[in-house]
Amino acid sequence: MSALDFSTKIGSKRFSNPIFTASGCASSGQELSQFFPLTELGAVVTKSIMTKARAGRATPRMAETPSGMLNSIGLQGPGIDTFLENDIPWLIENNAKIVVSIAGETVEEYGVLARRLRAVSGISAVEVNISCPNVENRGQVFSCHPDTSTAVIESVRRNIGGELPIIAKLSPDVTDIVAIAKAVIDAGVDGLALINTLLGMVIDTNSMKPKLAGKTGGLSGPAIRPVAVRAIYQVHQAFPNIPIIGMGGVATGRDAFELVLAGASAVSIGTASFGNPTAALQVKNELADLLTQKGFKDFRDAIGFAHRSV
Ligand code: DHB
Repeated sequence: MSALDFSTKIGSKRFSNPIFTASGCASSGQELSQFFPLTELGAVVTKSIMTKARAGRATPRMAETPSGMLNSIGLQGPGIDTFLENDIPWLIENNAKIVVSIAGETVEEYGVLARRLRAVSGISAVEVNISCPNVENRGQVFSCHPDTSTAVIESVRRNIGGELPIIAKLSPDVTDIVAIAKAVIDAGVDGLALINTLLGMVIDTNSMKPKLAGKTGGLSGPAIRPVAVRAIYQVHQAFPNIPIIGMGGVATGRDAFELVLAGASAVSIGTASFGNPTAALQVKNELADLLTQKGFKDFRDAIGFAHRSV
């Protein structure tokens, strides 16, 4: 047994290890739990939930890309009532650490969702998805502008009350992600989730039409990892005390280690689990081995190590 302390903290909350699921890639964990106990994960980050049930966008909703994939789900989901009735109790029964991701079409909707969550026990944090690429109107990608990012986070902060850490999920599709990070930090977030998918498009050269019914979609997978590393590095450099949940194309322990060295306090596994449902578990074990090999006794000493001058 290694003597590695693998725990991590986001705001006031401690997690037994830094490997989380990425929102949208494992729903509320039911499917993954067929492959391993959810208690193995630092946390389950649930698919972004909205106020009402939603069918999502028309199909096709997925397309393969070089070293990645494009998706255009359109925030399909059961809505907050059903989610609180079914998914949260199920996760609690399975002893999972829970991070609830929320998404709204308006600033007010985020506030409504935050208010619903304030009374719920058994949640460790709220991820505020202000960067979904699959909305009708790019103006609804709140994290593309500092002012709209601030408005959403202030609305969540006002309504959530208590101790629940707020994590803002940002888009890399901006000129200056540090400016957006500053806006949400000033508005009171306890952590950041970096990065959401990049907006992309694939055209079928046989049909000569876009492959996705929604035309554009979110690009994920190994192709975007260098973008994630860059965004995490830039934001950690500017705000070294703000915890970052890093994600973007992580499929191995070494990939996760790269995000940690850039400044991530936790790492989420998304696209990799579609091809390999035990990917998160493998990443966790490989990361622990790698940290031990490199001589780390405490995971937290590795966070942002690439920034050190000596
Ligand atoms: C969806 C939402 C996201 O935040 C994302 O990165 C990709 C897809 C969606 O539900 O369509």
